[in-house]
Amino acid sequence: MRKLVAGNWKMFKGPAEARTLCSELADRVGADPAVGLAVCPPYVSLATALAALEGSAVDVFAQSVHWEASGAFTGEVSAEMLLEIGAAGCLVGHSERRQHFGETDETTGARAACALAVGLRVIACVGELEREREAGDTAAVLERQVHAIERAVPNSAQLVVAYEPVWAIGTGKTATADQAQEAHEVIKRILDVPVLYGGSVKPENAAELMAMPDVDGALVGGASLDVDSFVAIRDAAAAA
Ligand code: 13P
Repeated sequence: MRKLVAGNWKMFKGPAEARTLCSELADRVGADPAVGLAVCPPYVSLATALAALEGSAVDVFAQSVHWEASGAFTGEVSAEMLLEIGAAGCLVGHSERRQHFGETDETTGARAACALAVGLRVIACVGELEREREAGDTAAVLERQVHAIERAVPNSAQLVVAYEPVWAIGTGKTATADQAQEAHEVIKRILDVPVLYGGSVKPENAAELMAMPDVDGALVGGASLDVDSFVAIRDAAAAA
């Protein structure tokens, strides 16, 4: 199966910086389909990224989406709106949304279902906290989170899950390849979909992670903000 490498820019890169990064990315990877590639800029940079990446093999995803088509939901963006501007998909349920903005298993499932219903692709994020891993609860937490997605979206060829252990996000601590493999197996027992690993993925650790049989790609944060490191991770995925 072709691997997918997606860059979650989080709250970095307004339109001017997005244009520069995307133009360089388009020059470097062109239309090469060896690996699926996506970037997830902030909402205000989506249109610029789409224009700069037109004709390239890099898809543009939003970082979230609302579960209603329209309505009084200040600060939110609907799936139809993302479709209208040409976005290919969106993330849902990122741990930073769960931690800081009250996202739950239920709202994550609702957002995924709505996005998939209009034809967007979805990367749904799951992952345990450090104290949950230390307590031996990793599998139970993942099962709870993935079952909630599965209840909302029983099966879809457009769905991908990202396993992002919260203790590995932005900390420089990476799950070992074996820890990632074990978690991906738990997820795939419930949902038969591609599973990406996320959490301090860097050019230095990408090859080892990508070599695991159930690691179908990566969701990259910090290292996706730099073209050289993002392309190096893509190259590791292509070689795996
Ligand atoms: P880092 O790669 O910066 O640890 O972020 C991972 C992440 O949260 C991607 O969604």
